[in-house]
Amino acid sequence: MIILANRYLPIVLTSLTLAATGSHAAVNFEKQILPVLQKKCLDCHSATKVVDGKTKKPKGDLQLDAAWAMLKGAENGPSLVPGNLAKSYMYEVVTLPKDDDMFMPSKGDPMTPEEIKLLKEWIESGADFAGWTGNMEGAPADVAAAAAAKKVVKVREHDVFYQQLSKEVKAAPEAVIAKAKAGGAQISALKLDSPLLRADFLTGVSKCDDEKVAVLLPLKDQLAQLDLGRTVITDGAMKTLAQLTHLTVLDLRQTKITDAGLASLTGLKKLQTLNLYGTEVTDAGLKHLAAIKSLKHVTLFMTKATPEGVKALTTAIPGVQVTLK
Ligand code: HEC
Repeated sequence: MIILANRYLPIVLTSLTLAATGSHAAVNFEKQILPVLQKKCLDCHSATKVVDGKTKKPKGDLQLDAAWAMLKGAENGPSLVPGNLAKSYMYEVVTLPKDDDMFMPSKGDPMTPEEIKLLKEWIESGADFAGWTGNMEGAPADVAAAAAAKKVVKVREHDVFYQQLSKEVKAAPEAVIAKAKAGGAQISALKLDSPLLRADFLTGVSKCDDEKVAVLLPLKDQLAQLDLGRTVITDGAMKTLAQLTHLTVLDLRQTKITDAGLASLTGLKKLQTLNLYGTEVTDAGLKHLAAIKSLKHVTLFMTKATPEGVKALTTAIPGVQVTLK
């Protein structure tokens, strides 16, 4: 379960980000996509339920009744990859030749060309669920945490926040971005026409150490979101991170960061979302976090933090959402 979560959480965060930074998808998921899924897919692709005394499991082990479940997919990988039609298997199967074994729906009315077009537009524009989460039962804990974080930070607030932040920042020269990419980082704009950037090392997490992270320094003004989850960084990388003063979202999931490392992050005055899932962080580390008053969501699932430590943190930063389990 946890391994799966790691594989698709970045995707969830990307779609949350797209939604949160105001890409106004023309397609309304709940009005235009969900009803089609309900009519043509969910009979076979809903969470396990009992019908007439018989247990009915989702066909192909795939649920399409929840955002997290679509992103997770089934045997053949994610069913939905926001912004990437070619990798979104749920799109592929509805567009296959009707005599193909995998053509969906395998029974009942096929999707109409209009419905398929809407699904295509929706996926291409970033698959914005606009707040819809669907059936959260069975969702892995860190996905649930991401959804909770999204509820806390309202979309509009986020919009205004990033607009404001964009004004303080000049776009990085292409050559500087290219150099960071050559150093192993994946870099993308937070949204079209924004100087703000997001970065990760997802194509080589096992090679991303403290030294690698330093390739991001020339982008210190532009980086707003950084995913270092599952990389091999240590507290030594915090020297770099401390200089990324516009960071709003930082993912340090399953790294070797310790309480001492967190002490270096207290200068990040824009930091709102911090993921420490699966680290050795304890209550002592939370004491340092108490100085980051901008925090809105902290994930502490599978750490050594205790309810007492969390209580102290939520007292120090009113309104902060902490996920401990
Ligand atoms: C009558 C039942 C039924 C309906 C309705 C149905 N499916 Fe399926 N679906 C299945 C079965 C059975 C499988 C497993 C097929 C296999 O693996 O050979 C499956 C598998 C899939 C898979 C592949 C999952 C994976 O990763 O292996 C996708 C994607 C999918 N369906 C999407 C859809 C979509 C989208 C709809 C609605 C347009 C839909 N299905 C409607 C029965 C159904």
